[in-house]
Amino acid sequence: MRITETGDLWWKNAVIYSLDVETYNDGNGDGIGDFAGLAGRIDYLAELGVTCLWLMPFFPSPDLDDGYDITDFYNVDPRLGSLGDFVEVTRTAHDRGMRVIIDLVINHTSDQHPWFKQSRKSTDNPYRDWYVWRSDTPPDTSDKVVFPDQEDSIWEKDDKTGEWYLHNFYKHQPDLNIANPKVRDEIFKIIGFWAQLGVDGFRIDAVPFIFSTEGNTPEEIEAFGDPHDFLRDIRAMVGRRTGDGIILGEVNIPYTDQYTFFGEEHGDGLTMQFDFIGMQAAYLSLARQDPAPLVKALGQRPQLSHGTQWANFLRNHDELTLDKLTDKERQEVFDAFGPEPEMQVYGRGLKRRLPSMMGGDPRRIRMAYSLLFSLPGTPSLFYGEEIGMGEVLSEEGRMAVRTPMQWTPEPSAGFSTAGVRKLVAPLPSDGYSPEHVNVADQRSDPDSQYAFVRDLIFRYRQHPELGWGQHEVIEQPHTAVLALRCRHEENSVITLHNFSPDGVTVAFSLDEEPGTVLVDVFTGEECRLDDEGRIEVVLDGYGYRWYRVHGPDDRRLY
Ligand code: NOJ
Ligand code: CA
Repeated sequence: MRITETGDLWWKNAVIYSLDVETYNDGNGDGIGDFAGLAGRIDYLAELGVTCLWLMPFFPSPDLDDGYDITDFYNVDPRLGSLGDFVEVTRTAHDRGMRVIIDLVINHTSDQHPWFKQSRKSTDNPYRDWYVWRSDTPPDTSDKVVFPDQEDSIWEKDDKTGEWYLHNFYKHQPDLNIANPKVRDEIFKIIGFWAQLGVDGFRIDAVPFIFSTEGNTPEEIEAFGDPHDFLRDIRAMVGRRTGDGIILGEVNIPYTDQYTFFGEEHGDGLTMQFDFIGMQAAYLSLARQDPAPLVKALGQRPQLSHGTQWANFLRNHDELTLDKLTDKERQEVFDAFGPEPEMQVYGRGLKRRLPSMMGGDPRRIRMAYSLLFSLPGTPSLFYGEEIGMGEVLSEEGRMAVRTPMQWTPEPSAGFSTAGVRKLVAPLPSDGYSPEHVNVADQRSDPDSQYAFVRDLIFRYRQHPELGWGQHEVIEQPHTAVLALRCRHEENSVITLHNFSPDGVTVAFSLDEEPGTVLVDVFTGEECRLDDEGRIEVVLDGYGYRWYRVHGPDDRRLY
């Protein structure tokens, strides 16, 4: 039996929560978040219902790409604590029933990493082939750069040897040469190290770039073989060392290519992948007040094998990329949610968080999160989404959404005892400032965004068919409404979302036996199908409803 078909498939209906230790909670008052501070917030995360923490890079780093530029894969950045502090966090999370996954950045290192310092010294240095070098003048690659505001080529000439090194991201992030068996051995060692310290898997950064053969010689490509085999080896290694650990890939490419990274029908590649296509279609649908683009995307998703899963999200720590939309579609989303140039970045994305994009309308914000949790797959949240945090647009590029977590209404947001000016990043000073948006106030308010998200998580967990099941679109006449049914074994949930501000009455039919009842998951209210199996549901403007389908003889659990 393949490894992917064994073990606990906990990730099928997990609730993932990503955070950067640096901006989450400061334990020692120096203005920088740290592991000691995070340890003190694990109970908060458990209370929220999070089941899997994803820690963004916390390794030693010059911090020119917010930690994605690593100088030592085997340590914790001293500003954030020590390996001991890391283990405390992992252990506490496990004690509260939470898994912990960490970022695995193996496409590149910092140019300050000792391997690169060696590599650039001479063409015969033992570390030369740890990176990708070329001696001939590279062609124009300005159309391939990821950060067009900073870079105009993916090759950088290095004075010391007069050759060029590959950097798919910033020039201070030279790409590792994974065609080199020594590099691959080192990657397995890194995985083994963190597995030994208790992690439950990895979020693998920049997957398509890791496996591209850009700059490799034909001999290297020949010797390396199918890059997907390397991914399979990583999955197998994570499985062997952790038991039920996962690899969750950042893979923003068309669905058919994603299927390959899942390991196709065997499902022995990436355990999970973020659904960037579905996320972009969701924003287009929200902008148009018409779920059709999202329905189309869901229909195009490849059928996954048992051992794999989609991770759904509405926001992450990067720009809200809209790169897979057409120019016209992207402009529609820009017009609706980020019309000002200062809200946009790289010509392809938005710098805002969801609440400000929705004009602060709680009905629309809640509908969007209800939608997220109802989509086929596993939901993933970015810290602060549970309280509706905003952004600081004056911050450069993606840093706009990487502001400190807002715990209290105090000026430093309870993030730190240090004064505001000493904080690692600024806090919003508008209607999303700590005074208006914070955990302390919302935890005691049953109508808050926090209370709403906590309940949503609880309901999602209570209905495992949402993560495990097969979805179908229910026919109904309103173009602004998405009606989905999700079945798994005996269970089935129907979710309805109204993308428009106008209330509607939705009528649809179900092929169920007489006496079937739909029970509203949030209110417990019951609706009966009529003799023809028809039902009518009233949806407010931006309204949403979830129903569990109960046959006449089903035993209710609650
Ligand atoms: C993707 C990460 O999400 C992003 O923040 C980072 O800049 C690049 N990979 C490079 O590591
Ligand atoms: Ca600190």
